[in-house]
Amino acid sequence: MYVCLCKGVTDKAIAKAVAAGACSFTDVQNALGVSTQCGSCEQLARAIVAELAPLPATQFYELSAAPAALACA
Ligand code: FES
Repeated sequence: MYVCLCKGVTDKAIAKAVAAGACSFTDVQNALGVSTQCGSCEQLARAIVAELAPLPATQFYELSAAPAALACA
């Protein structure tokens, strides 16, 4: 599904960016250009990133137990 029509960004592209290490909406925005023109896609893009991105490391009780890939700042 297209999330950002201006930049042609799909939900799958966002998922790929998150799998490649993007930890936040800003990371995804920098990687894909999503929501950098009209901005009407921002709310949906943020929701998708929030659903897919790992929790910030500060939300883990035991940081040493968190896999490195989940240690987003
Ligand atoms: S639809 Fe994403 S910036 Fe316009």
